[in-house]
Amino acid sequence: MELVVALDLPSAEENLALARALGTYNIWMKVGFRSYIRDGRPFIEALKAINPNFRLFLDLKLYDIPNTMADAAEEIAKLGVDMFNIHASAGPVAMRAVMERLSSYENRPLVLAVTALTSFDEATFKTIYEKSIDEKAEQFAKMSYENGLDGVVCSAFESRAIKAATSQKFITLCPGIRPFGEDAGDQQRVATLETAAKESVDFPVVGRPVYKDTDPEGKVAKILEVITSL
Ligand code: C5P
Repeated sequence: MELVVALDLPSAEENLALARALGTYNIWMKVGFRSYIRDGRPFIEALKAINPNFRLFLDLKLYDIPNTMADAAEEIAKLGVDMFNIHASAGPVAMRAVMERLSSYENRPLVLAVTALTSFDEATFKTIYEKSIDEKAEQFAKMSYENGLDGVVCSAFESRAIKAATSQKFITLCPGIRPFGEDAGDQQRVATLETAAKESVDFPVVGRPVYKDTDPEGKVAKILEVITSL
């Protein structure tokens, strides 16, 4: 498993201070909507200046017409991040357009699809997608796999079924990880590192359990120690 730390603090200064505290680890950093909209390209460059070996995941969840998505994917590749995501519901044509556009990039970023947003409850989800979350998530995962994407964003508890329906190599990136059973906060279904490993999660995403800790550096050290031992 490869650890992804979510940089979800309210300002660029606080996120960069967190990145500096974690600067000796060659881990993944997740940059979301809020910080990218506010802090943009200079923020990406500042992260790379802290540690050129940080791997960066741009969590912008693209959703638009195929040509616009392919254009955006190309700009993301030029930005030099290592992974980004799109909404699976953008569909197969958009998926292929994105992957075709990236095919000329030697070190293209990994592309993941968001299957079902974890904020949906079953009833609301069904009014939009006319299927249960599990059924649709698996269908979206298969569609993503068949159209050349590298993996999906899903709950740790869907990871194994998704790999069984696609390929063991198909990446699962899973938020809602509470490494040592910390407070779930607003997450509905949380998993420890041990559970994540059992469920074949490739990328556990951890936000609050790291940045709310009084010693984020020490916390990441413990997480990496456990990951290595699993
Ligand atoms: O603080 P916590 O560990 O719950 O953070 C999880 C991170 O993963 C947050 O940045 C959240 O926005 C993101 N995320 C999520 N569920 C998804 C997709 C992304 O929690 N389905």
